[in-house]
Amino acid sequence: MITIKSEREIGLMRESGALVAKVLDMLEMELMPGMTTKQLDSMAEAYIRDHHGVPSFLNYVPKSDPGVTPYPATLCVSINEEVVHGVPSTKRVVREGDIVSVDCGVYMGGYHGDAARTFVLGIIDDKVQELVDVTRECLARGIAMAVEGNRLHDISSAIEDYARSFGFSVIENMVGHGIGSELHEDPAVPNYGRKNTGVKLREGMTLAIEPMIALGRSRKAISRRGGWVAVTEDGKPSAHFEHTIVVRPNEAEILTHTFLDAKRA
Ligand code: MF3
Ligand code: CO
Repeated sequence: MITIKSEREIGLMRESGALVAKVLDMLEMELMPGMTTKQLDSMAEAYIRDHHGVPSFLNYVPKSDPGVTPYPATLCVSINEEVVHGVPSTKRVVREGDIVSVDCGVYMGGYHGDAARTFVLGIIDDKVQELVDVTRECLARGIAMAVEGNRLHDISSAIEDYARSFGFSVIENMVGHGIGSELHEDPAVPNYGRKNTGVKLREGMTLAIEPMIALGRSRKAISRRGGWVAVTEDGKPSAHFEHTIVVRPNEAEILTHTFLDAKRA
């Protein structure tokens, strides 16, 4: 069931979303080659708790898979061929030339915010830089479709068409989602699909839109060694951007917008 949030609920989600954005802004400023992914995670957790939030992902167990080990961290930090759900570790060091996808969720006042950005460390391969830029733009194009009266898969097809126009592949087995008092609510928001299909979007629907786009041919992210992390099938890099948004009549409201640059989505 898709819930429509009241303005009171959206106000609370704005607070959670702003804290997520501030965490990602802080990490964007701090990220340096030589750091471990665990250092990033500890900084994020401390920042969230200092601001009276709770990390949404910590101890998370998917309703669809209740037997799985609870997610053990605040962030997902997924490097290069890792698509999503990279578990922070004291043994994992980020290096110049890496792309580092950082996903963060905050629960505060009864509601979640969820966002991700892919950061680039130093000078990277041109094609990989293009992948990152295209994935960021896929998110912007998906968000641009998230207005009342459009259909859900208008978001999906805008993402897919833009990624494919560069020859990149869409990861199909990981999707965006509704969000609110639960981290994952209806509807699933795929990053591929046919225009003019899917449920009608209504003002007050809150969605986490999150394109995951890969450089190679991989259309699936597969678990590595049975762990949480999901990687591309061919080992090629993958990028990930995510915002929590509210469907509005003329332009979606982004709840996890960065504070670093007013002009940037
Ligand atoms: N943004 C991701 C998602 O919506 C991160 C979830 S991590 C998990 O699936 F631990 F909560 F699963
Ligand atoms: Co999400």
